[in-house]
Amino acid sequence: MAYIISEEAKDLVQDVKNFCDNEVKEQCKEYDRSGEWPKEIYDKAIEQGYQALEVPEEYGGPGLSRVDVAALIEQMAIADAGFATTISASGLGMKPVLIAGTEEQKQRVCDIVLEGGFGAFGLTEPGAGSDAGAGVTKAVREGDEYVLNGRKCFITNGAIADFYCITAMTDKSKGVKGISMFLVEKGTPGLSAGNEEDKLGIRTSNTTDVVLEDVRIPAENLLGNEGDGFKIAMQTLDQARTWMGCISAGIAQRGIDEALQYGKERIQFGKPIIKNQALQFKIADMVIKTETARQMVAHALTLMDMEVPYSKESAIAKCYASDIAMEVASESIQMFGGYGYSREYPVEKLLRDAKIFQIFEGTNEIQRIVIANNTIR
Ligand code: CAA
Repeated sequence: MAYIISEEAKDLVQDVKNFCDNEVKEQCKEYDRSGEWPKEIYDKAIEQGYQALEVPEEYGGPGLSRVDVAALIEQMAIADAGFATTISASGLGMKPVLIAGTEEQKQRVCDIVLEGGFGAFGLTEPGAGSDAGAGVTKAVREGDEYVLNGRKCFITNGAIADFYCITAMTDKSKGVKGISMFLVEKGTPGLSAGNEEDKLGIRTSNTTDVVLEDVRIPAENLLGNEGDGFKIAMQTLDQARTWMGCISAGIAQRGIDEALQYGKERIQFGKPIIKNQALQFKIADMVIKTETARQMVAHALTLMDMEVPYSKESAIAKCYASDIAMEVASESIQMFGGYGYSREYPVEKLLRDAKIFQIFEGTNEIQRIVIANNTIR
């Protein structure tokens, strides 16, 4: 067992593995080619309640620790990183509410998720990527409503979410302290999804612009107070980044599994290629990196469960795990030789899937800034 988890979670890991082996792993190969969002796979996952793993027990969730959930998300990532990303990005959408919402807001979004809905998080804008505070989406208070106008981009679950947590400027003169966070529900007039991105990897996840044109929402959909939005967004990302590390470790684990199986089957010079010490060392290095990444993920999640500071550890987990996922995926292709470069075999997809984890939820350069700031401070 890679993660040390509860007895209850051990049974669930087996259930998720069986589900992914039967319903996700092979099926996602075709969707990876077409780029179509595999609704029928997600419908089956929702039947199992997999979208609700992160819902806290007090709001009707399964009552798992974060490390328990990591063991389950890793199984999903081993099967298909896009699938795991969709589930995890839904949890990302829920986090601002769980961090800063009222009891009523928390129960509202948890109920949506428990009933089979997905969430999304809308921070990034065309002119505000790494510089997350540079967004120009506006929210203007009119009576007991806010009116939102602007465009968010690269939003995971953008076209399929049932609710969105969206940052918008309520007072431009205050810079990042003029940013607020709002809960916007699907179906609100003026809210729409823009074009879907045709991505290099995680092609079974949905990534779109989210367009806000005179979107009127009740004033009580403000999360926290006006001006709290940037801080809530940063706290959200502090948690969410570890989950990106978790999925990255899952991609790396798949790379090891595939390389090992191929190494045992592929005969060259009259013996399986895994009999060569050069390749055994390659596998050993892949295992060292993957296991280290996984334990960093577990460490950051344990700190979160203990409610002690974890920004630095979460950034390390995300940064390290995504860097090694790229290395391990590349080494896995190397084990396969020419076949590894072919779409007929499963390992080239791992490299394509891994790349985004060095970029989204804060590039690994931003993670190094977060790590340095937390260390120097
Ligand atoms: N927790 C709480 N507060 C925080 C914080 C944190 N982790 N980080 C910063 N703040 C607060 C600061 O304390 C400061 O407030 P005070 O002045 O009161 O102290 C305020 O926020 C501004 O802080 P900074 O001056 O440090 O902010 P900055 O503008 O320099 O930005 C940054 C810092 C770390 C670079 C930040 O902009 C950042 O994280 N950028 C990357 C954005 C990112 O990760 N985007 C990913 C989007 S999500 C995604 O990828 C979508 C998806 O669907 C997968």
